[in-house]
Amino acid sequence: MRLRRKPQAQQMVRKHPRVILDPERVRGYWKAFFGNNHPLFLELGTGKGQFLSRACQQHTEINWIGVERIEEVLLHALQKADETGCGGNLRFLWLDAKKLDEVFAEGEVDRIHLHFSDPWPKKRHAKRRLTDRRFLEQYRRMLKKDGFLQLKTDNEDLFNFSLEELAKGGFQVTDSTSDLYDSSFDQENIPTEYEEKFTSQGMPIHFLRARHM
Ligand SMILES: C[S@@+](CC[C@H](N)C(=O)[O-])C[C@H]1O[C@@H](n2cnc3c(N)ncnc32)[C@H](O)[C@@H]1O
Repeated sequence: MRLRRKPQAQQMVRKHPRVILDPERVRGYWKAFFGNNHPLFLELGTGKGQFLSRACQQHTEINWIGVERIEEVLLHALQKADETGCGGNLRFLWLDAKKLDEVFAEGEVDRIHLHFSDPWPKKRHAKRRLTDRRFLEQYRRMLKKDGFLQLKTDNEDLFNFSLEELAKGGFQVTDSTSDLYDSSFDQENIPTEYEEKFTSQGMPIHFLRARHM
């Protein structure tokens, strides 16, 4: 996702009250940070934030955190969250997902959402995929025992790669379909920005849910 560079984006992100700038200090204390015992759900690679701006309002009983590494993109998500009236149950990290271990302690996360992650089609870039085994190792540590990971993508190669990596990485795939909108899983679905783009072009959406074993 390429956006025109906004010169003051970094400064605006740093000042925004929804952004947690030193999340390493909250490691192990996320419940205290939110001030409640609600489950903690992450979306990795939030993009412009459409999913979270809806999810945080439909599910106020969840603490939501969006993780995005590009500040210009995160700025859009922050603006959307404010415009749509999200409450204090939605916060953001300006962070590369490869640093998640520094931010979440073992068993601290209830669910991880991966939505239309960059596919990195070249083999030499495979370790950048958010379902590469190095990322999965982090997710396994952070997730609660009965926690799970949920993934949506238009990209069949990334989907198949993810299924293989999950099987090798200590996850059990409990649900999967290569056409989300022709399945029962779409009933609670909240579409993302990319998802709306792909479905409007008639492309099927792959979906899976995998439980930490
Ligand atoms: C293709 S976009 C999808 C955006 C959104 N999830 C959607 O479905 O509309 C992928 C997003 O993931 C972000 N991203 C990719 N790798 C990341 C990483 N390692 N850590 C954090 N964000 C990442 C990109 O910057 C981009 O905004």
